Amino acid sequence: MIVALLNQKGGVGKTTLALNLAGELAGRGKRVTLIDADPQGSALDWSEQRSRCGLPRRFGVVGLARDTLHREAPELAKSVDNIIIDGPPRVAGLMRSALLAADLVLIPVQPSPLDGWASAEMLVLLGEARIYRPELVARFVLNRCDARTILARETAEMLAEHDPPLLAATIGQRVAFAAAAQTGRLVAERDDATLAAREIAALADELLRLPIGRSAP
Ligand SMILES: Nc1ncnc2c1ncn2[C@@H]1O[C@H](COP(=O)(O)OP(=O)(O)O)[C@@H](O)[C@H]1O
Ligand SMILES: [Mg+2]
Repeated sequence: MIVALLNQKGGVGKTTLALNLAGELAGRGKRVTLIDADPQGSALDWSEQRSRCGLPRRFGVVGLARDTLHREAPELAKSVDNIIIDGPPRVAGLMRSALLAADLVLIPVQPSPLDGWASAEMLVLLGEARIYRPELVARFVLNRCDARTILARETAEMLAEHDPPLLAATIGQRVAFAAAAQTGRLVAERDDATLAAREIAALADELLRLPIGRSAP
């Protein structure tokens, strides 16, 4: 299964969720490769930081920020169980390529009025990709959300009927995500990040239950 975390908005949690999801699946015994498709290379930076800290490799990280991704990712997918693509910010060609590569597109969003969640441009690209890949599955995932706030509840209700739909699993606003990343770690590797780790596990559980076309995990 190839999962792409995409949203042309920066700072919504693409890299954070991509890394922790990759780690979670690797922890479950899957062979995982993370493709850093962001020219800024934050996932690659994390990986270098991790090896500088002498931490063991949990999954491979490769930089592939080019618009041949849709041809290269399926090739890489042959030798692993899961590919996670950490998507680029607002680069149409790269975004299109990542959409064509993916079995599942996850769009991280933060609680905010609906029109701020993903640009019309990105949803148009998603629609275009579905012409070629009708089986492409897409979901919003609410990140940095405090489930008790009215805004989170309202946005979740608003998106319940939306396409793409919103996942039931949400990720809270937790400093552990940033603290873990700074030392090349995942939240599951920190003692003080139980809630964050549990949320990532629940996210993985829900993703693995989705009806994904090409190759079931
Ligand atoms: N759920 C969260 N709780 C707290 N901080 C978060 C959360 N998700 C992301 N962050 C922080 O927000 C910043 C942007 O996240 P990042 O994953 O780099 O976004 P993107 O890849 O979409 O640009 C990072 O500093 C990250 O540590
Ligand atoms: Mg990023």
